[in-house]
Amino acid sequence: MKKHLLRITSNTEIARNIFEMKLTGSGVSLMTAPGQFLHVSVGKDSSNLLRRPLSICDVDLDREEATLLYRAQGDGTKQLSQKNNGEMVDVLGPLGNGFNLDTVDQNKNALLIGGGIGVPPLYYLGKQLKSSGVQVTFILGYQSKEDSFYVEKFQEIGETIVTTVDGSQGQKGFVTDAMEPCLEDEPVIYSVGPGVMLKAVEERAGGLDGYLSLEERMGCGIGACFACVCPTETRQSGYVKICSDGPVFKMGEVVL
Ligand SMILES: Cc1cc2nc3c(=O)[nH]c(=O)nc-3n(C[C@H](O)[C@H](O)[C@H](O)COP(=O)(O)OP(=O)(O)OC[C@H]3O[C@@H](n4cnc5c(N)ncnc54)[C@H](O)[C@@H]3O)c2cc1C
Ligand code: FES
Repeated sequence: MKKHLLRITSNTEIARNIFEMKLTGSGVSLMTAPGQFLHVSVGKDSSNLLRRPLSICDVDLDREEATLLYRAQGDGTKQLSQKNNGEMVDVLGPLGNGFNLDTVDQNKNALLIGGGIGVPPLYYLGKQLKSSGVQVTFILGYQSKEDSFYVEKFQEIGETIVTTVDGSQGQKGFVTDAMEPCLEDEPVIYSVGPGVMLKAVEERAGGLDGYLSLEERMGCGIGACFACVCPTETRQSGYVKICSDGPVFKMGEVVL
């Protein structure tokens, strides 16, 4: 079991209810694969015994510092948002299988599509793809301008198209509304977000190669409790566990 105690170096609200938490400790050196997640203990009272899965958004291996971005929405994440610098956070991880970077070589482009709180893992992925010579384009979807975060940081990596449902920033609409022109050079697609969004992305991708990261409800996070099963037609068992078989799957592998 990869359990670590990491020290908070900052925990700041960067957009409406969106927090950036930086954590340091020796366990950070294991967090080299984008798309993996940490199963974070948020508190010890009975309502918060279950850990919360949060994606690794960025890692600075030299400083042994990992960044998580999370939306403070329910009891657990709200409790996390009240933690101060210097407090310790108990995490399991890195867990799950990250994105496959081998299928995209330097001649190919990558299109990274994130919706809402699905955006964070695309930052670490984008940085790694860029450093291996791949040209990266992002489509980031938010509800409105107040909810958007990290846009300037994504722009440092590659072309970044923003969509908002109310049109207050970037293009009005959903991420899928911005996909069409980006598909001409047949990029490899990587997408993270709610199930309905992933389904729409898969349909628009029209058979292109791609990977989807699912954000299903979780219990144990390590394949033991069956809380996160999802149907598939490609395995004999008829299901996959998001936490241990995923959270990243090849497009078409799971029934969305
Ligand atoms: C692999 C993975 C990566 C994720 N990465 C991020 C991230 O980087 N940033 C972020 O803000 N959120 C992320 N999420 C979603 C995040 O885990 C949930 O929003 C969070 O657990 C909700 O906890 P809460 O205390 O706010 O809500 P509560 O309602 O208090 O949670 C109650 C219970 O439901 C579970 N739960 C509720 N909603 C979800 C959900 N949408 N997905 C999974 N479990 C849920 C919680 O784990 C908890 O056990 C990720 C989810 C997964 C599976
Ligand atoms: S969360 Fe327990 S099996 Fe996936």
